[in-house]
Amino acid sequence: MKKQILMALTVASATILAGCATSKTGQITATPFGADSSGAPVKLFTLRNASGATATICNYGGLVTSLKMPDKRGQFGDVVLGYDNVADYIKSSPYFGALVGRYGNRIALGQFTLDGKQYTLATNNVPNSLHGGVKGFDKVMWSAKCYQSADGPSLELTYLSHDGEEGYPGNLSVTAVYTLTDDNSLKLVYTATTDKATVLNLTHHSYFNLAGKGDILNHSVMIPADKFTPVDSTLIPTGELKPVAGTPFDFRTPTTIGARIGQDDDQLKFGKGYDHNWVINKPTGEMGLMARVTEPTSGRVLEVYSAEPGLQFYSGNFLDGTLTGKGGWVYQFRNAFCMEPQHFPDSPNQPSFPSVVLRPGETYHNTIIYKFSVQP
Ligand code: GLA
Repeated sequence: MKKQILMALTVASATILAGCATSKTGQITATPFGADSSGAPVKLFTLRNASGATATICNYGGLVTSLKMPDKRGQFGDVVLGYDNVADYIKSSPYFGALVGRYGNRIALGQFTLDGKQYTLATNNVPNSLHGGVKGFDKVMWSAKCYQSADGPSLELTYLSHDGEEGYPGNLSVTAVYTLTDDNSLKLVYTATTDKATVLNLTHHSYFNLAGKGDILNHSVMIPADKFTPVDSTLIPTGELKPVAGTPFDFRTPTTIGARIGQDDDQLKFGKGYDHNWVINKPTGEMGLMARVTEPTSGRVLEVYSAEPGLQFYSGNFLDGTLTGKGGWVYQFRNAFCMEPQHFPDSPNQPSFPSVVLRPGETYHNTIIYKFSVQP
């Protein structure tokens, strides 16, 4: 009996590895990446596209641990922050490269009411709940499957979040598919279903630095948004949709991150820089450009596309030199930025914001594309 179980396990793990390690084109490989806190083995999957760009992603947290894209000279370089081993991610990570859920961003005081019932969440970002709570989707093991899709090598990650997990209602079945396309896009497609009404706001949290070193103040940003959602001192939206015109939040024409970040402005003070949600100029549910970021020395360009109504642009204001990442890089203040397509923060408590409620029988969809290119 024991022998049979062992054989079955060996066959199962060989099958999983075969799917990932020896795909027809050899574009997906799986390698060991340590273990999670329960001792479960963590794997690192490397997706390689036809142009030689690579994305490495692990099944713990669905973390993108490296993303190597060409610069204007054709040199490949890593454009995301992260660690060399899973132990460092488990020890202390400000969501480097993570799948974020159930609720990306903040829910005020860790409370919301749905269909007349009040739910209480962990207040892990006092006094609010942040990024799904104490053990969000960035800290769980996902089941992984690799395949070659029409667009390029894909890694499919699935996770079943139980009813009541981190205080949220409903058994939620989530699928996240990463694809590295031949046009140098990292595409993430989320789908989810639930057996009870719940709230959901899934996003992605890579820390980008298009130069691969230094601070990001010289990166130029364009965000097609006439309005943003101003926040209180705990980064919860006031409910107002405020015009960006005449403020440091106007990125409708490309402007460097550093140009106005030091201005005497209450909103900038609350976020210690940019840590706000922009209301993108397009109908909710319609795929479109959310941001374009360019970096002059490398010539790298990042375009972010999604159908979500908002974009959280975070300028790495909580990086403070206490974390040392890949290759010994000490991550200093504003060494990276995040672009997180999402619904507006605290939507469960803000009736005027687009709804984040998912009900049984509905399927949640969210596609996020990070597209890389170069300019002279
Ligand atoms: C998000 C939040 C920030 C911060 C980072 C993680 O971008 O909006 O305030 O919590 O995640 O450090």
